[in-house]
Amino acid sequence: MGGSIRMKVLVTGGAGYIGSHTCVSLMSAGYEVAVLDNLSNGHFEAVLRAQQLSGHSLRFYNADLRDKADVEKVFYAFQPEAVIHFAALKSVEESIREPLLYYESNVAGSVILLQVMSEYKVKQLVFSSTANVYGHALDVPISEDSHIAPTNPYGRSKAMIEQILSDIVASEADWRVARLRYFNPMGAHPSGIIGEDPRGVPSNLPPYIAQVALGRRSQLQIFGGDYDTPDGTGVRDYIHVVDLAEGHVAALNYLTNNMGLVTANLGTGRGYSVLEMVKAFERVSGHPIPYRIVGRRSGDVAKSYAATNKAEKLFAWKARFGLDDMCRDAWRWQVMNPSGYSRNN
Ligand code: NAD
Ligand code: UD1
Repeated sequence: MGGSIRMKVLVTGGAGYIGSHTCVSLMSAGYEVAVLDNLSNGHFEAVLRAQQLSGHSLRFYNADLRDKADVEKVFYAFQPEAVIHFAALKSVEESIREPLLYYESNVAGSVILLQVMSEYKVKQLVFSSTANVYGHALDVPISEDSHIAPTNPYGRSKAMIEQILSDIVASEADWRVARLRYFNPMGAHPSGIIGEDPRGVPSNLPPYIAQVALGRRSQLQIFGGDYDTPDGTGVRDYIHVVDLAEGHVAALNYLTNNMGLVTANLGTGRGYSVLEMVKAFERVSGHPIPYRIVGRRSGDVAKSYAATNKAEKLFAWKARFGLDDMCRDAWRWQVMNPSGYSRNN
């Protein structure tokens, strides 16, 4: 597999939020990077800015994972040695309305990617899974051997891919696969040059709060004030997107030295409530965040945070940034790019 210097890594979904930050980390660490993305939710501008930030260039392929001929063309042209697979649809709510779209994009798309990897004898893969696969986990912190019980089609699509990966590694011992279960990514590159640019009304808390602070939305609705948590609002493990990106580089390095399957949470191990997040964002931005406590959102759990010892031990990686850093960087990105990547900034 060779050393890490100039190893060729294909990043599916590299024009997206986590993918673009990971491209910067990979290029800065000396990897040669290509991005495969259909731009359904990503931004070509993010790829351009990732190059600018890292001072390196990458190859971009506008291709859809569900089109095998497209994916084969990318492998033929780039000849990757490893793949980091971010490309997927990720809205829980949309997945409940359109399950087939999710199974097609996430599960069928991943099967095609794996078939082409197999054809090209590329057997090193870092896969984006999610803490959503744990469903209503009973115990926090949530460890990797907790029961897998997703409660919606999005989570089930990820759990299915996890199962497929485990079956592949069981069938051929020379695969090297990391299944990474992310907790709640937030923030942006500290430069403010790349960040999260959700289309439409954000459903996740951090981008929603940032838009309220900016005055783009009038008020935050807090879903539930009667949970069994210190202040009654939901608790989550927010992780800085740059920490997450570095976690992928660390996992890739681990796989270069180790065969087989590995599964690890990527989180900080520390939970924050919605109200703590609101206060931190007010502090960092200097803007008030008007809010109203409303009923619980269906499907939400009271608290979710990661057991982090496995990733720390295996990958020699640990999240470095805290809540104020995440809010500060999310805010900087928002102020520098009030309309996201669109040209009317
Ligand atoms: P994102 O939507 O910003 O990035 C995904 C990228 O994949 C987009 O650029 C999109 O255009 C591309 N894509 C989607 N379907 C494709 C297809 N069929 N072919 C080619 N490209 C396609 O999302 P993100 O937040 O960066 O998430 C990346 C990964 O991490 C996803 O797999 C997601 O499920 C997972 N994840 C995200 C979160 C989160 O909160 N952001 C949490 C846990 C796990
Ligand atoms: C959501 C997704 C989950 C995904 C995760 C990270 C659902 C049911 N789950 O989970 O699949 O992996 O994001 O992307 O959508 N909140 C508010 N007001 C808001 C938005 C959120 O009070 O406008 C609260 C929520 O109730 C929760 C916390 O903020 O307590 C975080 O919410 P969110 O960012 O949506 O993340 P998750 O609920 O963890």
